[in-house]
Amino acid sequence: MSSATASPVSTAAAKAAAPSATALTTIDAILADLFARLGNRQDQLLPVLHGLQDSAGYIPPERVPEIAQHFNLSRAEVHGVITFYHYFRSEPPPRCVIQLCRAEACQSMGADGLLEHAERALGCSLHGRSADGTFGLEPVYCLGQCASAPALTINEAVFARVTPARFDALVADIANVDNNSREAV
Ligand code: FES
Repeated sequence: MSSATASPVSTAAAKAAAPSATALTTIDAILADLFARLGNRQDQLLPVLHGLQDSAGYIPPERVPEIAQHFNLSRAEVHGVITFYHYFRSEPPPRCVIQLCRAEACQSMGADGLLEHAERALGCSLHGRSADGTFGLEPVYCLGQCASAPALTINEAVFARVTPARFDALVADIANVDNNSREAV
């Protein structure tokens, strides 16, 4: 089975009537809430995985057995779903997640060149992390900015008409904030 880059299920189900993430501070609480709200029908596995990643930032591998038991699935089946979709992370996210749009309109407006530039600038490939672990580079498929392509997100903030120079400026801004906050400590 080949990998997919995005889960076909929206997070809407997992977010429905969800308490704020700040109210659920532990993985235990997050999982208990998801299990209670979404039940144990196997078609709710993806919404639970989405909900866990949305609230915790990733899906801790050590919680796979518990999730599998809840859905009466094998660990291998749950692991297979998590690894099939590149969207799911099995480790905490980097401080700064950059998602580059890889869909058609952005491709026609230079997204491939922007990706090559981003990989060179960050020193990592798609799905990878910069050497210092600050930046993660991920694909995304259409951000609703097709008329202003190419587009990307930085920690979910959307930026359109992104040239390589603008990409560098955005990354430098983040690095400056990081340095200033370190100096302030
Ligand atoms: S294709 Fe990139 S924003 Fe729509």
